[in-house]
Amino acid sequence: MKLQAPPIKSQGIKTKLVPWIKTVVPNQLTGKWIEPFMGTGAVAFNIAPHHALLCDINPHLINFYQAVAEQDITPSGVREYLSSEGANLLKRGEAHYYHVRERFNKKFNPLDFLFLNRAGFNGMIRFNRKGHFNTPFCKKPQRFSPAYITKIVNQVAYVSHLLATKKFKFKCQSFKDTITRANTDDVIYCDPPYIDRHADYFNGWDVEQEKSLFNVLAKTNSQFILSTWHHNQYRENKYIKSLWGQFNMLTREHFYHIGASEKNRNLMIEAIVTNCEIQHGNNETNETDEMNETLKQQEQTSLLI
Ligand SMILES: C[S@@+](CC[C@H](N)C(=O)[O-])C[C@H]1O[C@@H](n2cnc3c(N)ncnc32)[C@H](O)[C@@H]1O
Repeated sequence: MKLQAPPIKSQGIKTKLVPWIKTVVPNQLTGKWIEPFMGTGAVAFNIAPHHALLCDINPHLINFYQAVAEQDITPSGVREYLSSEGANLLKRGEAHYYHVRERFNKKFNPLDFLFLNRAGFNGMIRFNRKGHFNTPFCKKPQRFSPAYITKIVNQVAYVSHLLATKKFKFKCQSFKDTITRANTDDVIYCDPPYIDRHADYFNGWDVEQEKSLFNVLAKTNSQFILSTWHHNQYRENKYIKSLWGQFNMLTREHFYHIGASEKNRNLMIEAIVTNCEIQHGNNETNETDEMNETLKQQEQTSLLI
């Protein structure tokens, strides 16, 4: 499966896990593909169903893709905007990043959101309690090289083409509204902020929200697939047993990258929890043998601490 990276980046992006998630997606998708926690859209854009409803509580993600769908944001417009703002960044350095951040926090322009997302520290999406974007600068004034701009333009072009050929809808709403309105023939893919881990995205994620997600998923008549974490070398996700244990489950190793550096990789055992049938063999994909080696090394290091 050829994977496409979306134009928006975020911590917790699931692009590399799509082939694994796909193994539990029912073959016959007669209803909608629904994501209550769309994030960057990486999963839906790679699954590419005919009909999708993509929701998130973060209005800036929704506004960005809505603008692409309505062709207010186009690949050529993105090239023009990033070439001009990239040149300003090169000339003025981090002062320009913070100027755009201030402007975004007043006017919420989706192109400024793209700029900040691609020039912010490690592609992180982080807001403060007042709802202001507060990710710091990546400290690379030369960020928007012609090759980097072309890469982003191609990512926008890919999503733009997809949205022009499929029936995708975007909505800013809480997961409860999205899930309780789903129909029986819909498939709901849930990727909430991971409980008991850093959840800076837009607003936090706590045990009340995890329980409330469990309650709506336990009652839904739709098929659902939930991504969560199972354990890492330090601790386990206690809600796997206390909440999610009654459903079908798959696990596998996965590296979360924080930025591009090979050093900043965290190995996690990912889980898929689902009320869909799991076919024999779905759990056989592991990223590389290198991961096992790294896990062993991390375990040895943690024993030494
Ligand atoms: C782990 S990210 C989703 C990542 C996504 N699957 C991807 O590949 O990019 C979780 C998302 O849930 C959203 N979120 C947090 N609380 C929410 C809520 N109560 N209702 C809906 N979305 C929420 C966050 O804004 C964030 O975009």
